[in-house]
Amino acid sequence: MSVTVIVPTFNEAPNVEELVRRIESVVDLDAEILFVDDSTDDTPSVIEAVANTSRVPVRLLHRSEPHGGLSGAVVEGIRDSTREWCLVMDGDLQHPPEMIPVLLETGRQTDADVVVASRHVAGGSDAGLNGWLRRVVSNGSIALTRAMFPNRLRNCTDPMTGFFAFRRGSVVIDRLRPQGFKILLEILARHRLRVVEEPFVFGSRHAGESKADIGQGLRFAHQLASLRFGRMSRFAVIGALGAIGNVLLMAGMVALGIPYLLAAAVAAIVTIVANFALQERFVFHDLRHEGRGLWSRFAHSFAYNAADATARLPLLWWLVEITSIPSVIAQAVTLAVAFVLRFVFHSRIVYRP
Ligand code: GDD
Ligand code: MN
Repeated sequence: MSVTVIVPTFNEAPNVEELVRRIESVVDLDAEILFVDDSTDDTPSVIEAVANTSRVPVRLLHRSEPHGGLSGAVVEGIRDSTREWCLVMDGDLQHPPEMIPVLLETGRQTDADVVVASRHVAGGSDAGLNGWLRRVVSNGSIALTRAMFPNRLRNCTDPMTGFFAFRRGSVVIDRLRPQGFKILLEILARHRLRVVEEPFVFGSRHAGESKADIGQGLRFAHQLASLRFGRMSRFAVIGALGAIGNVLLMAGMVALGIPYLLAAAVAAIVTIVANFALQERFVFHDLRHEGRGLWSRFAHSFAYNAADATARLPLLWWLVEITSIPSVIAQAVTLAVAFVLRFVFHSRIVYRP
């Protein structure tokens, strides 16, 4: 099968030869191995030596200016590959090469876009995670992440694994913002993909030590925040700019002698249209080509905003009269709820990917 096995490496000199030997004994001749290396030791020269004697093509992409760490390296590997499938695995033999044919065969037999080697389906295990603390952290972050992305991770029990295969054509590289270790999460959260899993046993390192540290933990938190809240905060900034523009516009029209209700209506329409244009450009630019056409997006967005503007007044009245919450607090609550609903409506319906 046409596949690039992408292996990110950072100072893995003692592991490379064993890894290539075990991979070449289980894959077809039309596979290739691509090392994307950021090492500061002699890993590149070890890779070149192994490449000269291996049965399958071994290529080395040494990055003189590494960015994005492990995930950035994997993304460069994907960009470089021209094969139908990419398979990503670590260079320290914690991912058994003998699983490679299993993953690819599953990909061939199902219509999956991604085949994930999981430690958390029956038959899998995270035996190689040393220490109870790391295991607790790992399981806790999996639970949190799956709760944050219930749809995209519905069929993935191990979004943190670094061992998976996917159809090259199902991933849009420019959508990825690689940082830290969790490249599978980045791919799954930013696409709607069909996921199938195979169990595997996460082994222990062949040689050397893990590069995971507190810094990686912080990068992971940042990744979660940008995956989940990045779009939402841009949406909020544009909404706030729109509200300011709305007030200025209305003030200008009232100063020109236009009746205030008419001025408010015109300002509302101008704001909705301007917000839509800004959202298209800055908030949902990556989703524009996938679902509805431009006019359908505009019509849905316009109808929603008009309904929202109309519904807020009776809601405010109801809150103040029935619950006797002070009116300013009630207004703040309605605006906050309206913001979240507007965001959900736009990301789920207007820009449904
Ligand atoms: N090119 C490049 N650049 N490779 C890197 C970098 C980097 O900055 N940092 C680490 N790597 C390579 C390592 O050389 C190794 O081949 C692979 O990425 C995984 O790194 P490890 O240091 O062995 O990570 P780990 O064992 O702690 O974490 C692994 O297991 C986790 C699951 O518990 C990784 O697969 C994680 O992605 C996975 O979440
Ligand atoms: Mn490792």
